[in-house]
Amino acid sequence: MPVSQRVKQKVLIRRSAIRRRVLAVARQITRDFRGQRVHLIGVLKGACFFLSDLAREIDLETSIDFISVASYGKSRESSGQVRLLKDLDNSIAGLNVILVEDILDTGLTLSYLLRILRQRKPRTLRVAALLDKPTRRLKPVEADYLGFKIPNEFVVGYGLDYAERYRNLKDVCVLQQSSG
Ligand code: IMP
Ligand code: MG
Repeated sequence: MPVSQRVKQKVLIRRSAIRRRVLAVARQITRDFRGQRVHLIGVLKGACFFLSDLAREIDLETSIDFISVASYGKSRESSGQVRLLKDLDNSIAGLNVILVEDILDTGLTLSYLLRILRQRKPRTLRVAALLDKPTRRLKPVEADYLGFKIPNEFVVGYGLDYAERYRNLKDVCVLQQSSG
């Protein structure tokens, strides 16, 4: 799909629904780790809005860090060969780590990240994902905390991009090519 002005966006998940689910996920994390500290790791760049909204609703001692990866291959398909672009700033040894992802698709990115993070001996390692496209899974990975299951459509907004655009949309939208 060319990045052109003929591309329209159809709302799939409204900002109000995102807000409600973010609150529910934050409450669940707060309950699960009562009395403890959590360390949120955002996967750049897609997870940055989800992480910043989630972190502010978690009622626990919370720290954050970011990691960035790229997968080789076509822009809309993950190839499974994942490359680390930016590593964490700090050690995660002994911490309750929650990896925060925008979307779980094939699971190739997440399975790579879980493998390298496990080697660093966190106390616990969980996954919070805003979106999940379960029908696309190639690796058996799941989110412990999930916003929404969605059908197999390419979505943008609330952090998710197509060719680095649309991340700032307030709703999660499906891109559609208009006929005109
Ligand atoms: P996976 O390795 O196939 O699970 O892909 C995960 C990554 O692919 C996500 O973190 C996104 O960056 C990207 N991705 C997968 N599906 C979509 C989508 O519908 N819209 C935007 N990015 C997506
Ligand atoms: Mg991503």
